[in-house]
Amino acid sequence: MTTYTKQNQKPFLKFLIYGRTGWIGGLLGKICEEQRIPFEYGLGRLEDRSQLLADIRNVKPTHVLNAAGLTGRPNVDWCEFNKLETIRGNVIGTLNLADLCREHGLFMMNYTSGCIYDYDDAHPLGSGNGFKETDNHNYAGSFFSKTKSMVEELLKEYDNVCNLRMRLPISSDLSNPRNIVIKIARFDKVVNIPNSMSILDELIPVSVEMAKRNLKGIWNFTNPGVVSHNEILEMYKNYIDPDFKWVNFSLEEQATVLVAPRCNNELGTSKLKKEFPHLLSIKESLIKYVFEPNKKTSFGGCPT
Ligand SMILES: NC(=O)c1ccc[n+]([C@@H]2O[C@H](COP(=O)([O-])OP(=O)(O)OC[C@H]3O[C@@H](n4cnc5c(N)ncnc54)[C@H](OP(=O)(O)O)[C@@H]3O)[C@@H](O)[C@H]2O)c1
Repeated sequence: MTTYTKQNQKPFLKFLIYGRTGWIGGLLGKICEEQRIPFEYGLGRLEDRSQLLADIRNVKPTHVLNAAGLTGRPNVDWCEFNKLETIRGNVIGTLNLADLCREHGLFMMNYTSGCIYDYDDAHPLGSGNGFKETDNHNYAGSFFSKTKSMVEELLKEYDNVCNLRMRLPISSDLSNPRNIVIKIARFDKVVNIPNSMSILDELIPVSVEMAKRNLKGIWNFTNPGVVSHNEILEMYKNYIDPDFKWVNFSLEEQATVLVAPRCNNELGTSKLKKEFPHLLSIKESLIKYVFEPNKKTSFGGCPT
């Protein structure tokens, strides 16, 4: 699907990106600027096929990157109370875009969620046996997860689509309240469960490379391995705030302060690691991309 200019035979790329005002969409724009990849943000709402068609005609992209979707504010519990809006954006909208891209012979990358699995007997916590891309989904406990799971099932039929299953995104921007490090540091109480997570500073550039390589299908898009809430908060204490303290609570206690249940899981990353052998483990990536660049040295010496 890569096209070539006649003059110099270099690959020609132009990305059409959805999610201009969003966290991931914003990062994608920055990476395209850094890599000098021509791009434009889509103006259309995903549920309006005619607006999406106008974007495709105006921008004439080689690749469409979809980082638009309803994630809920302050969190995914919002989707429980706004089900039709969630369906419109996350189901009808995503399918509209995939279908239009298919009609126009365009590659579409879809930034989606790995919150479609929960630890089970075959993939127990601590086993290192992560869910594979081919495993049947076993979690639809929140409406958000239900929509993501159903759409992924349908998108499997689209051979132009690359689905990236992200989880619990973390970035080096510690001023962003949606960054999981900041979220859990600000909670009154926090559970302590190992989970797969995605370090955006490392993985979003990988996704751009995947688009360039026209990689399609379903990909678990987290760093290899798992990290627990307490391990992250220990790093936060060691690198950022030596006086930081936190209080744990159980999953049962957590359930009393949430509307919808949350899942915990490990996603297997062999497929991604085979394509990108230098991918760092979640703990290495946290230190390299998040904690080292934000390290406060005023309290003396190297963090341990
Ligand atoms: N952050 C996470 O925890 C997380 C984890 C895993 C996966 N993901 C997935 O990654 C994607 C992007 O996440 P994010 O954190 O960057 O989300 P975000 O910061 O909430 O941004 C969402 C973006 O989607 C746009 N949008 C929402 N509904 C739309 C619609 N119907 N048509 C067009 N644009 C629409 C928003 O634009 P407006 O402001 O104009 O509405 C905004 O630019 C989502 O699909 C999300 O589910 C996120």
